[in-house]
Amino acid sequence: MEEVARVVLALEEHDVAEEVLHFLDRTGRARVVATASDEHQLSEAVRQLEPDAVVASPRLATSAQLNGSALLAVDTSESVQTLRRALKAGAKGFFLWPADRGELARAAARVFAPGARERETLGRVVAVYGPRGGAGATFLATHLAASFARRERRCVLVDLDLAVADIGPAVGAPMDGSPRTIADAVPMGDELAARHLDELLWQHPDGFRVLFGPNDVQQSERLTAKDVGPVLEAVRSAADLVVLHVPRGMDDTVRLGLGLADVVVMVLALDVLSFRAARRAVEAAGMDDRCSFVVNRATRRQISPRDVERVFGRPPVAVIPVDRRVPAAQDQGRLLPKRSRAGRSVDRLAAKLLEQLEEGS
Ligand SMILES: Nc1ncnc2c1ncn2[C@@H]1O[C@H](COP(=O)(O)OP(=O)(O)OP(=O)(O)O)[C@@H](O)[C@H]1O
Ligand SMILES: [Mg+2]
Repeated sequence: MEEVARVVLALEEHDVAEEVLHFLDRTGRARVVATASDEHQLSEAVRQLEPDAVVASPRLATSAQLNGSALLAVDTSESVQTLRRALKAGAKGFFLWPADRGELARAAARVFAPGARERETLGRVVAVYGPRGGAGATFLATHLAASFARRERRCVLVDLDLAVADIGPAVGAPMDGSPRTIADAVPMGDELAARHLDELLWQHPDGFRVLFGPNDVQQSERLTAKDVGPVLEAVRSAADLVVLHVPRGMDDTVRLGLGLADVVVMVLALDVLSFRAARRAVEAAGMDDRCSFVVNRATRRQISPRDVERVFGRPPVAVIPVDRRVPAAQDQGRLLPKRSRAGRSVDRLAAKLLEQLEEGS
């Protein structure tokens, strides 16, 4: 039996259809088996292919024959009329593209095997992304995980940097003897259950757990974004909060991590190229509405945190000062205590993010 939801996709706008198709494929939980651009094609595809789900615009869905397939309605704008149409067509949900892409991926996965996938709670996802090298993504991801744990949340830090995989040494984990990594989780796919995760996650003394990146190049070269999708879902079911340490660049794994995130912490340095890289990343991943900008290593420079508002339309949620204890601690695999300068700022950021995430749940 196939392990992914088979989806027929029917959206009027070709570009949007392409984006949704690639996104669903990348989640590893859904596969688009046919696309349709009018109601006749849609009815025919449903009749022939009997998909697990139809992802369609409300207009096409109301005028086609869906033969009882689960309908997930998608549109790029939300109006009373589109919502009414979605309702009339019996949609299981309405998803605004691209803002609700994470929700869409989860809904598509649930459609396939409601019993197995319908978990009571799935952890919220915070992706930490430094668009330019050395901005401080690793520092922030590790310290946010510790702050969430301090606030009594079950937190798992996942190293999605499959090539560099430096979260282990950054948090002082014993890396000799090939510890269990994300590569060990992949072969279990959908079967990955809480009890397996207990064996795969490393417990940090500060209370959060860690899923390490691959131990070596061979391991990392075998992994694809498709493999990683089910692992992330399993991790979410075992956590209140998942902190994704997302590498630079914009490959499929990066897009998967950013796409699943409820909040993307965009780590900026106060320099022109960092802002430029952030602008490009926001555009490439369609994540403007989910981005929280954080200025790290702030000193008096020509560019100031105020420029964040000018460039991105909103002020930074946190400005983390330069703290010379950060590199020293990172080199020794230690996390800074909460009372340090930078530690205090990250802790306040964690509190803000929690408020934002839990307000919306
Ligand atoms: N607030 C800070 N004050 C002083 N040094 C910092 C601060 N944040 C990070 N650093 C230091 O800057 C360097 C880069 O930080 P980090 O490794 O977290 O960045 P990164 O975005 O993960 O980089 P890469 O792109 O290489 O993965 C490290 O030496 C780190 O210790
Ligand atoms: Mg890093």
